[in-house]
Amino acid sequence: MDNDELRNEIHNFIDENLVDGDPLVVEAARYVSLASGHRWRPLITLRTVEAFNGDLFTAMPLAVAGEYAHLATVIDDDLPCMDNQDLRKGKLTCHKQFGEDIAVLVQLYLIGKLIRLDTGVNLSDNKVRKILGVRGQTINYLVSGQKKDLRDLKNINDLEQVIEVYRLKTGSLMGSASVIGGIACGAGEEYLKSLDNFGNFKGVAYQIRDDVYDVMPGELSLGKSKGQDHGKNTLIRLLGVDEAIGIADRYDEMALEELRKIDGLDTKGLEELVIEMRDSDQNVYN
Ligand code: IPE
Ligand code: MG
Ligand code: MG
Ligand code: MG
Repeated sequence: MDNDELRNEIHNFIDENLVDGDPLVVEAARYVSLASGHRWRPLITLRTVEAFNGDLFTAMPLAVAGEYAHLATVIDDDLPCMDNQDLRKGKLTCHKQFGEDIAVLVQLYLIGKLIRLDTGVNLSDNKVRKILGVRGQTINYLVSGQKKDLRDLKNINDLEQVIEVYRLKTGSLMGSASVIGGIACGAGEEYLKSLDNFGNFKGVAYQIRDDVYDVMPGELSLGKSKGQDHGKNTLIRLLGVDEAIGIADRYDEMALEELRKIDGLDTKGLEELVIEMRDSDQNVYN
């Protein structure tokens, strides 16, 4: 299956999964989750499973659980008390469309759904326990990264520290998307470490390109407003666009190198995903 076919499968799974609960919360969750999306995180999980010759169908709930974690953080990120954005994917953000009260509830709803997907997966209890541990740790990293982005980034001038914010807020979720695919397939610790590095490096590259997009001319494109990062010491602000893109390229290369380190697996699908994410004209956070 190519990535677009997998995107269709992911869409259909979400369509069938987001049905139970309070009708307005479900409507808002569907509004957010069934809007167009690249589905990068579920694709990372599925392509990881494919590398281990695992069963994509079994792994689909885990892949979608990663997408729910991502969507919850995006609803959060757009709130007035965070980045205060009105548009996402060319549509009103969740709180603009449904109100802040419902937007906050949708985040909790999606976290509840992802726990049920993770625990309902057709794998051993031992694997499920590991997966839940990784999921919880990832949310902790995300929270730290977002806090640093909102409160600390304006005062950080050190490149390594800025990159660490990117790793926490964006890399961690891509790392765990891959690690969880590995756990599903019974991968050993060494493999899991490489998968984690792979996703974290890819996430840093991805966030740098998202920040580049934020300073490109024009007010709006690809469905969200520009100039959101005003006042933040992003890598673009510290280094300029060209140098920042150079660092994104280096992180993409590091992600690919991590995959090449993994002996005995066919990581072609993951390698192609790295390139597709890099070259996509929508390779911005969404
Ligand atoms: C978001 O980073 C990171 C999250 C964990 C949600 P941004 O704030 O740059 O993402 P966009 O530009 O609003 O999509
Ligand atoms: Mg933000
Ligand atoms: Mg934002
Ligand atoms: Mg951004």
